[in-house]
Amino acid sequence: MSANWKNRLLEHYRDHARDLPWRVRPGSNRRPDPYHVWLSEVMLQQTTVATVTPRFARFIEKWPEVSDLASASREVLLAEWAGLGYYARARNLHGCAQQVVALGGFPEDEAGLRELPGIGAYTAAAIAAIAFDADSVPIDTNVERVVARIEGIEGPLAETRSEVHDAARALWPKERAGDFAQAMMDLGATICRPKTPRCGECPVSGDCAAFATGAPEAIPAPKVR
Ligand code: ADE
Repeated sequence: MSANWKNRLLEHYRDHARDLPWRVRPGSNRRPDPYHVWLSEVMLQQTTVATVTPRFARFIEKWPEVSDLASASREVLLAEWAGLGYYARARNLHGCAQQVVALGGFPEDEAGLRELPGIGAYTAAAIAAIAFDADSVPIDTNVERVVARIEGIEGPLAETRSEVHDAARALWPKERAGDFAQAMMDLGATICRPKTPRCGECPVSGDCAAFATGAPEAIPAPKVR
């Protein structure tokens, strides 16, 4: 299997990236704002992109810098969070903003990010890769499915998760890890969908083991009940 599919995926991302307010245009030499990346990742932990997009914009308008969020009153912050669910996230958000201000900025690696309230393994890796282009591999359920399909790891994921995660870390490029992460997330959300993958639009179908089987939707196998 050629490594070329990774370049094709990055090119596809450059041309078709979803226009999301926390992103910078792929290929631009601006770095995304770590505050924006962090806030979007926390909001996206249990809430869809469609719901998060307008709410994220309101947060940023109200609190343009992480220091503004840190000094907001907890009541106002919780009220602004209304409807996003899981209020522990909003409380952690406030505590995290205050710690970031005390630290003088966001830590730039996974280990430092993991120390902050509300930041688990996935979120730390996502922020490190997207905001700081660290050699980090954020693996959410979309990425698990895409990797399982490309590599032909049949699943069910409950049984193959550690194999899928090892495969993800092995295939992840060391450079442009953040663009690659977002390209994989977009692929999973828009093309490599769980039940109805749109392989005709996929830039990497020629390198995909699941596509080669003729029944890509069958990978990963459904949960055994
Ligand atoms: N889901 C979680 N993080 C995301 C991101 N940065 N872009 C799109 N979808 C996501």
